[in-house]
Amino acid sequence: MSALTDTLTTKLRYRRDLGLLFDPRTGTFHRLRNTVAKTMVDQVFSGADRDAVIDIVSRRYRTDRCHVAADFDTLITTLTTPSSAQLQPHGRSLLAVDKRFDGTLDFPLRMEIELTAVCNWNCGFCYNVWKIDPTMSDNDIRRTVRQLPEKHIPTELATGILDECAERGCFVIRYSGGETLLHPDAMEIFEHGGRLGLYQVVFTNGHFINAERAARLAAANVRCVLVSIHGDRDQHNQLTGHPRAYDKAVDAMRLLLDAGINVVAELTLVKENVSGALDVIRDAHRIGVREFGVMRYVPTGRHDDQYGVPVSVTLPLMREIDRLTATECPGMTVAWPCAQKLCTSDTDAPLRADDPTLALRFSQLAGHCESGLVWASISYDGRLRNCPHSNVYFGRLADHPLADLWPTLTDRVRTALTVRPTCAGCAVADACQGGCHLSSFFTSKTPTGLGIPAVGTAPATSTDR
Ligand SMILES: C[S@@+](CC[C@H](N)C(=O)[O-])C[C@H]1O[C@@H](n2cnc3c(N)ncnc32)[C@H](O)[C@@H]1O
Ligand code: SF4
Ligand code: SF4
Repeated sequence: MSALTDTLTTKLRYRRDLGLLFDPRTGTFHRLRNTVAKTMVDQVFSGADRDAVIDIVSRRYRTDRCHVAADFDTLITTLTTPSSAQLQPHGRSLLAVDKRFDGTLDFPLRMEIELTAVCNWNCGFCYNVWKIDPTMSDNDIRRTVRQLPEKHIPTELATGILDECAERGCFVIRYSGGETLLHPDAMEIFEHGGRLGLYQVVFTNGHFINAERAARLAAANVRCVLVSIHGDRDQHNQLTGHPRAYDKAVDAMRLLLDAGINVVAELTLVKENVSGALDVIRDAHRIGVREFGVMRYVPTGRHDDQYGVPVSVTLPLMREIDRLTATECPGMTVAWPCAQKLCTSDTDAPLRADDPTLALRFSQLAGHCESGLVWASISYDGRLRNCPHSNVYFGRLADHPLADLWPTLTDRVRTALTVRPTCAGCAVADACQGGCHLSSFFTSKTPTGLGIPAVGTAPATSTDR
């Protein structure tokens, strides 16, 4: 193999069915749009060297060999030398690629794995705790979680899932929890993923990060860490129920940045912290963080009156954030994940293509989350679901490979995503898809209980929440 083709196959990973190349170091995706480029890359990843590829392509397309050689060299050089424009912030680059699939994926492109059910914080808004049993008191739930026979995903199951993902072209793995780093083998699992060349993202409260751990994460190809921060010191400690939570989270962000890891500060927007949200962005910027996520509270059916934030706060807050980043926090990217409706309206309010607020909306709202279409989530007990907020499951990974469970899940999600009549004519319907489709994928009537699998019994229509 020539040096050029060698660089391509060692630097990039290839998803042949999608014509998609991925750089696991930078998180950059390249989509091959023309069939000649795809033929060239197919051949390289099948083991053909430069001369062989040029022969095959010039014969197949009856084109002059010198032209093909020049095109081939330009293509490979472009793919292996990412331009600065391609090095977008972590979230933007991944989300941009998510939106571009019309057909059903044979296998997900990203996965989330919940490593553990255990947490050292006590966030009253947490969706995980609710799923144990919404009728229990907070204390009873915590006690129950501690006593779960399998509170951490078995290490061999986690590494087996990573093996399958690497083999089948699922390039990005996000780990979550509970507190992710409370899995006793968390670091070993990340190191396994790093050896497989996966781009890894860790969601954490930051409590267990120290300099040595940060360096180990960087060495394991954990390229991005999402650190939760929900207010100033007093508010954050109060919301998380831990007296040192804020200082630990801030220290963690600094240590991770020092280790060269991309840090995203993640605020869960609840009633209490709406007015302080701008200050949290300021604080994160001061620390050196340049990516910020605003995750609006997702109803859990438990304390929704206490924490729930109406959609109507979104647009005014977006305007203030826009002003803040333009004046006091240069370079800060703020994104609202989790399928915020682009119209930011409780009722559907179709947008026109010439709406003057579209640019602002698209600058912060990520659009549809693509859960179940491009990615899915695995719970600490090894069950597959379309998103971490859902309690409707599609089988156990201990019993079936992901490749066998994924098709049923993704077909169900596609069915659930039928456009609502009230969204008709909306200019941004493709990007928005009506917002979150979770209501089709959880059941609040029957708590899952402990170890009792909830099955896919939710209606296959999307209703607004
Ligand atoms: C479940 S935690 C797991 C990782 C880690 N323990 C942490 O706190 O960052 C992941 C994120 O989900 C957020 N979250 C929890 N419950 C939520 C809810 N009901 N709605 C929206 N976000 C929620 C948390 O605040 C956190 O930012
Ligand atoms: S389905 Fe809803 S709750 Fe789940 S990730 Fe998407 S937007 Fe969030
Ligand atoms: S698709 Fe529906 S929910 Fe989304 S912006 Fe348009 S009207 Fe609003």
